[in-house]
This record gives sequence, structure tokens and C-alpha cells, in this order.
Amino acid sequence: MSLTVVSMACVGFFLLQGAWPLMGNHRKPSLLAHPGPLLKSGETVILQCWSDVMFEHFFLHREGISEDPSRLVGQIHDGVSKANFSIGPLMPVLAGTYRCYGSVPHSPYQLSAPSDPLDIVITGLYEKPSLSAQPGPTVQAGENVTLSCSSWSSYDIYHLSREGEAHERRLRAVPKVNRTFQADFPLGPATHGGTYRCFGSFRALPCVWSNSSDPLLVSVTG
Ligand SMILES: *[C@@H]1O[C@H](CO)[C@@H](O)[C@H](O)[C@H]1NC(C)=O
Ligand SMILES: *[C@@H]1O[C@H](CO)[C@@H](O)[C@H](O)[C@H]1NC(C)=O
Ligand SMILES: *[C@@H]1O[C@H](CO)[C@@H](O)[C@H](O)[C@H]1NC(C)=O
Ligand SMILES: *[C@@H]1O[C@H](CO)[C@@H](O)[C@H](O)[C@H]1NC(C)=O
Repeated sequence: MSLTVVSMACVGFFLLQGAWPLMGNHRKPSLLAHPGPLLKSGETVILQCWSDVMFEHFFLHREGISEDPSRLVGQIHDGVSKANFSIGPLMPVLAGTYRCYGSVPHSPYQLSAPSDPLDIVITGLYEKPSLSAQPGPTVQAGENVTLSCSSWSSYDIYHLSREGEAHERRLRAVPKVNRTFQADFPLGPATHGGTYRCFGSFRALPCVWSNSSDPLLVSVTG
């Protein structure tokens, strides 16, 4: 059984970094997605870059793209500067890893340090996998729980998300003798329940995911 964790979701090549002049003089801004980072094809997402540094311009860059980043003038309100980048209608080509930067007045080409990377994922393009729990969806406190995500589609990677948590777990899918592709996520000893979903994706398009599995409610007794 292979439990290799895939290290990055939307790995690409950041071609521009070396070409940009003088980066990192100012603190990194923050980058948020509204309504969230998991979207359906055709939806529009607002990527909001903000900082308590009074940036005059904000820049948004998608990893692996050699075009110039988009630039917006920052709006200043209540001691923060921010800009809303509207991305959409979403297509697989727009999914990927985004970062934003700021620049201060009089130094428009001197960019701040990059924000933390934000993965924008399109879901719903392939068939949903199925999600099950071992030993079952209702367990005793302290009992080891494993969630298995499985499909007849030859997904390379499965993503497991827990409702209310920002980051999902990823595992490589393993082919089984019955021709399904499966990943077993060990959750460890059960402490509190939750609602889980899983998604499948292919290596070539790491930010394009299947439909969500049916939600699985794991409850802990005792
Ligand atoms: C940016 O987008 C967010 C979320 O949609 C919205 O709440 C906010 O008012 C927008 N801000 C600006 C400056 O347009
Ligand atoms: C994904 O789910 C939607 C809604 O349930 C459904 O209409 C669509 O056909 C599904 N897509 C695939 C590829 O299974
Ligand atoms: C849970 O799994 C871990 C790792 O596989 C193991 O070390 C531990 O003994 C198990 N605990 C129980 C209560 O089965
Ligand atoms: C396929 O085999 C795996 C591993 O033996 C098992 O966990 C899974 O339930 C099987 N799936 C189907 C649809 O038979």
C-alpha cells in the first residue's frame, strides 16, 4: 500500500520571478478567494489581495504563465489597501496557483514579497468517486478511522476535504485488482466527527478535479 503524499497541488514553473526587478522590499500581502477556492466551470471568482502596507498597485500572477501579471490600483479603506481581481468565467486553463504582490507609490516596479500561494481549483469535470469509512462511519472515540476514496476512473490523485477546514489532504491513487483506483486516508484515532468529501484528479491537470463524492458523515461515540 502506497501512502505517498503528493507534495504540491498545482505545481508549475514560475517563469517570471527571475525577470522581475527588485522583489521583496515590502511584506507579503494576503490573497483570498471569494466565494472560495473550489469552483465550478463557468463560475467567477474574486481574488482579493490586501495588506496593511499602503500599496498603490496590486499584481496578480498565475504560476506557469509568462504573460505580464494583471495590475490593479489599490483601494484604501480602514487602514488596509486592497484590490479585487475578477477571474472568470472559469475554464480549466484558468485553474492553477495564484500569487499577488503590491507596489508602493513612486516605486511601481519594485514589488513586495509574494503572497502565500492560493490554488484555484475547478471541480465537476469528471465523474464523482465514492467515499467510505473503515471500520464504518460511526466509531468509538480513540478507534482508528480510515477513509477510502475510490473510482473506476483512473484518477492519479485523490483529494479529501473536511467541511470547515481550508486545506485538503492528497494521496496518490493505487490501482486495485478489481480495476478500481483507490486511496486510503488514515485519520488516526477518532476524536471528533466531521463531514468529508473526496475528489479525483489527473496528474497533467492538478487543479481540475472531479465532481465531489457524496458527503460522508463520520460520527464519534463515547
Ligand atoms: C471585493 O470583493 C469582495 C467579495 O466579493 C467584496 O466584499 C468587496 O466589497 C470588494 N471590494 C472592492 C474594493 O471592490
Ligand atoms: C457532476 O455533477 C452534476 C450535478 O450533480 C451533474 O449534472 C454532472 O453531470 C456531473 N458531471 C460528471 C462529469 O459526472
Ligand atoms: C492506530 O493506527 C496506528 C498506526 O497504524 C497504530 O500505531 C495504532 O496502534 C492504532 N491504534 C489503535 C487504537 O488501533
Ligand atoms: C475493490 O478492491 C478494493 C481493495 O481490495 C476494495 O477496498 C474495494 O471495496 C473494491 N471495490 C469494488 C467496487 O469492488
